[in-house]
This record gives sequence, structure tokens and C-alpha cells, in this order.
Amino acid sequence: MEWFVRAFLKASLAWLALGVTLGVAMAAHPAWALYRLAHVHMNLLGFVTMMIYGIAYHVIPRFSGHPLWSRRLAVHHWWCAQAGLAGMVTGFVLRATPGVPTEVSTVVLAGGGALSAAGAYAFALNLWRTIDGVGAAGKPPAGGARRPRERAAPALPVLPSSAAVASPARGA
Ligand code: HEM
Ligand code: HEM
Repeated sequence: MEWFVRAFLKASLAWLALGVTLGVAMAAHPAWALYRLAHVHMNLLGFVTMMIYGIAYHVIPRFSGHPLWSRRLAVHHWWCAQAGLAGMVTGFVLRATPGVPTEVSTVVLAGGGALSAAGAYAFALNLWRTIDGVGAAGKPPAGGARRPRERAAPALPVLPSSAAVASPARGA
């Protein structure tokens, strides 16, 4: 398993633990429900989306039969995703906290949101190019073939049909 796959899976589990802890705190102390947006994004962007990122980086190259287009971009994505979500959670908490100027919370929230979005764009580009079998980042495969493995695959052997297999047994 690649480093960034493990890191996404572990980050997802850590965000789940933090997100449900805030959920229980909100349930036990209804006044804290004003932090709902932090809870929502810890769970949906932190747990759900990061679990999908990790699984997709592992599975899609295998499903498509093409190596990941850029492992370096996936590592950058991980850092953007963690810093971005941490910024978003901080921004949502600051926005809900009385006395904090709106400009401050907005800069933190928008900064975190932009980083999270940048990571998501990197993910989309990386897997899009992987599915297309573009080859290592910036290096199209020799000969211009977009799906080298598919093109190189030998024809499957023709298996006997079930009728052909069954008929000798019937005659015996
Ligand atoms: C131990 C687990 C959890 C507890 C105790 C919990 C608790 C809560 C509470 C008390 C609220 C309502 C806050 C309010 O009054 O506005 C809430 C909202 C919400 N929670 Fe959780 N939560 C848990 C897990 C999760 C998970 C795992 C997810 C998503 C994967 C999630 C998604 C949401 C969403 C989307 C809302 C907002 C719903 C809305 O917009 O009204 N929660 N949660
Ligand atoms: C770059 C990533 C994201 C950014 C910057 C972002 C930003 C926001 C903001 C600013 C709000 C609050 C709107 C308001 O003031 O009421 C919001 C609400 C919400 N977001 Fe996100 N979001 C992101 C990703 C996601 C993802 C991936 C999910 C789900 C998988 C999600 C689910 C929600 C939900 C359910 C709400 C409504 C919560 C409620 O009102 O209880 N967001 N988002």
C-alpha cells in the first residue's frame, strides 16, 4: 500500500474520531450545536471524503490497469486536504464564536476551503489521467497509445460452450 493511501485512510479515521466526539459534545450540550458546520465537515469531508480518496488511489489504478498518473501530486493532495480541512474547521468555529471579527473567520474559512478544493481538483485530475492511461506525469507513452496495457493484451482463448461440454457426457 502506498504511503499516501495509508495516510488518507488514517487521516479519515482520525477525522471520524474528532467528528463524532464533537457530535456527542453537541448532543450533550445543545448550546454547542452552533459548531454544527465544523462537525458536518469533519465527518463528511474528513471521514467520508478522505476514506474515498484513500480507497480510490489504491483501487482505481488496479481497476483501470494503469499506474497512478502522479504519486507526487497525491502526496501534495494529502497535505492540502489536511491543512485545508483544519483551516475550515477552525474557520467554522471562529465564525460561530461571538466576538471574533467576521473578516478573520472568513479569511481562515476561505483559505481552508481553497486548499481543500485545490486538493480535490488534484485528485480529480490525477485519477482522470490514470483512467485514461496517460502514463507517468507529463510523459505520454511511446507510440502515442493511450491505453498501452489494453492494446497489448492478448486475445482471450475461446472456451468450449456448455452445450459442447455437456453433449459427450449425455451420449456416454
Ligand atoms: C457519534 C456520532 C454522532 C453524533 C453524536 C452526532 C451528533 C449530531 C448532532 C447533535 C447534530 C445536530 C446539531 C444541531 O442541533 O444542529 C448533528 C448534525 C449533523 N451530523 Fe452528526 N453526529 C454524529 C455522527 C455523524 C456522522 C458520522 C456524520 C456524517 C458522516 C454526521 C453528519 C451530520 C450532519 C450532516 C449534520 C447536520 C444536519 C443538518 O444540517 O441539520 N454526523 N450531529
Ligand atoms: C472544498 C470543500 C468544501 C467547502 C469549502 C465547503 C464549504 C461549506 C460552507 C461554507 C458551508 C456553510 C454554508 C452556510 O453558511 O450555511 C457548507 C455547508 C455544508 N457542506 Fe460543505 N464544503 C466543502 C465540502 C463539502 C463536502 C465534500 C460535503 C459532503 C460530502 C459537504 C457537505 C456540506 C453540508 C451537508 C452542508 C450543510 C450543513 C448544514 O447546514 O447543516 N461539504 N459547506
